[in-house]
Amino acid sequence: MNKVISPQRRVLTYGTFDLFHVGHVRLLKRIADLGDELIVGCSTDGFNELKGKKSIFPYEERAEILLSCKYVSQVIPEQSWEQKESDIETYGIDCFAMGDDWAGQFDYLEGITRVVYLPRTPGISTTHVKDVVGAVIEDKKKRLRNAAKLLNEVIDRM
Ligand code: CTP
Repeated sequence: MNKVISPQRRVLTYGTFDLFHVGHVRLLKRIADLGDELIVGCSTDGFNELKGKKSIFPYEERAEILLSCKYVSQVIPEQSWEQKESDIETYGIDCFAMGDDWAGQFDYLEGITRVVYLPRTPGISTTHVKDVVGAVIEDKKKRLRNAAKLLNEVIDRM
């Protein structure tokens, strides 16, 4: 009897994935579970500029980090809003999935593939990580300014 080889089910998602964090990992794991292969469209620096976003890590590094994630099979550049239909055709995508901050925004793709929105992991985002790092730096600056002020007072008393 011939062995039946079932075709690989391919899943597609897009995003900037800057300062790769656990919210990204959990989303990619759940999306990868929807098929056999996960393709991630990573927003290029040029596309981010168009979206009014500026990443800390450049595209090449964000793509390299994404590819090192065990849930990701392939990384492609996301350069425009319009490429989704042609990517779905080119890569034979069975399911398109995004975090639910995008809920409803890609329903127009339902004619050509399955569209899924998954809940975000609460309490973490790239913006949050940037805010925390920013606050730590501000605190360091404040401590250094206070130390410099004290040192000046000591010098003045000499
Ligand atoms: N995502 C998620 N859970 C989080 C953060 C992000 O599931 N806590 C998902 C988003 O819904 C999106 C994907 O990860 O589908 C890539 O999101 P991205 O915008 O790169 O990450 P954010 O952390 O949301 O970045 P920012 O704060 O710059 O918006």
